[in-house]
Amino acid sequence: MNFTINGTKVTEAKHECTIVGVFNQPSFDGELLEMDKAFQGYLTDLVKEGDISSKPKKISKIHTFGKLNTKRLLFVGLGKQKELTFDLLREAIGAAAKSIKDMKLSSFGVALDTFVTEEFNAEDVAHAFSEAFTLATYEFYGYKQKSNEPEVLLESVDFLTASDHKGVRAALHVGYAHGRGTNSARTLVNMPSNMLTSTKLAEYAAELGEKYGFETEILDKEEMERLGMGALLAVNQGSVEPPKMIVLKYAGKDEWKDVIGLVGKGITFDTGGYSIKPKDGIVGMKTDMGGAAAVLGAMEIIGELKPEQNVVAVIPSTDNMISGSAFKPDDVITSMSGKTIEVLNTDAEGRLALADGMTYAKHHGASYLVDVATLTGGVIVALGTDKTGALTNDEGFFEQVLEASNEAGEFIWRLPYTEKDKKRVRSSKIADLNNSPGREGHAIMGGAFVGEFADNLPWVHLDIAGTATSASSYELGPEGATGSMARTLALLVERFEVEN
Ligand code: BES
Ligand code: ZN
Ligand code: ZN
Repeated sequence: MNFTINGTKVTEAKHECTIVGVFNQPSFDGELLEMDKAFQGYLTDLVKEGDISSKPKKISKIHTFGKLNTKRLLFVGLGKQKELTFDLLREAIGAAAKSIKDMKLSSFGVALDTFVTEEFNAEDVAHAFSEAFTLATYEFYGYKQKSNEPEVLLESVDFLTASDHKGVRAALHVGYAHGRGTNSARTLVNMPSNMLTSTKLAEYAAELGEKYGFETEILDKEEMERLGMGALLAVNQGSVEPPKMIVLKYAGKDEWKDVIGLVGKGITFDTGGYSIKPKDGIVGMKTDMGGAAAVLGAMEIIGELKPEQNVVAVIPSTDNMISGSAFKPDDVITSMSGKTIEVLNTDAEGRLALADGMTYAKHHGASYLVDVATLTGGVIVALGTDKTGALTNDEGFFEQVLEASNEAGEFIWRLPYTEKDKKRVRSSKIADLNNSPGREGHAIMGGAFVGEFADNLPWVHLDIAGTATSASSYELGPEGATGSMARTLALLVERFEVEN
């Protein structure tokens, strides 16, 4: 998409449609007042009559009948100026974006300064715009013979503003990068597992690495065997698809230290294995690599924005299948860390894959760890589908993740993690750990298991089983994959400060 920035006044600029922000306030000021004058005060009347609404996220469209150069105005309700939040701004823009998409325009204008408040300057609005627009207009075209792809694609957006163009341009770039990285994550999650095998996921990661100059390492099965990755290999045992351990390294500092490790669950399909899922629970399990997608989406954003940080992304990937060679309940396996694990449930496979992912991230120098995974149905029971569940062993590091998630507008909620929880994952008569201590608090158990592989490094666990997909469309996207946590992870990296 092409963004242009233009000093032309809204009353002069020529577009098929121009988006205008409208606040709930006693009377118009600034550019809206100028527009109202061109309309001989009719805009004020339309607000009074309710034909133009300032209610948050409400969209109203009018034809200008030649009173302005622009053919139509699309008003976005923003509510009271003082009550505007960045989340609301993003969602309101998302609603406008969906409207514009329905209009099938190839270009439109934005009266950027009509969105500016005391709290949010033109750069903030520009960031919100490019991000929300990119997210809201995302579509997964699928594989129909008759393509879903629209005939008219949006090509350019013209931002009208009296503000410094350089700052606005930079902010547009940042928002656009966040939007695109998230959309890439969505596409990976929306792809079926016969098309997105671990091999394909690894190829995708390698291409990303090539594009952004990341150091890339893709381990194959033999290399994993040599390194003793018995946990990931056990999950792969029943599959005809080879497993992959995917590593991307982004070095934004002179020295390879203070490295943030991002570990994403990359189960391309989860049947449950011998602890097989009921048939209704299997449909949708192509999304079980949502953690991997979030990490790759974040790496794309990081590659675009190049923050001065060090990051190692690690994705243990396989599908979880059944066959004569598959791993079974009661098996005891040995992880790369040396810890042995009694398998009580083959459907608790994500934590096994992550165990070796965490160890391998440390092997590559990670000094902080975040794991992201569609790990448990339990987190959906506990928090619903709009909140990511978190666990941590480090207050300060968690605070940084929480701030990033607030900035991204991705809700996370911390679950308790106590010595008793650790005891439950450590309770096995014949191994160091067990992978399924029972259904009580099992979102916590999933995280607690992964935490055993953090050792003493600051670590945050993010369970996105509920948030990785959405059953219905919303302001910032369609139904299906959400790209959950791609932006949070990227922002964590962008804003990261080493703890003392
Ligand atoms: N991939 C699932 C979790 C999941 C469930 C993701 C629903 C998205 C939607 C995971 O591997 C799993 O099966 N977890 C089990 C763990 C249990 C066996 C301890 C679960 O949550 O039931
Ligand atoms: Zn499972
Ligand atoms: Zn799973």
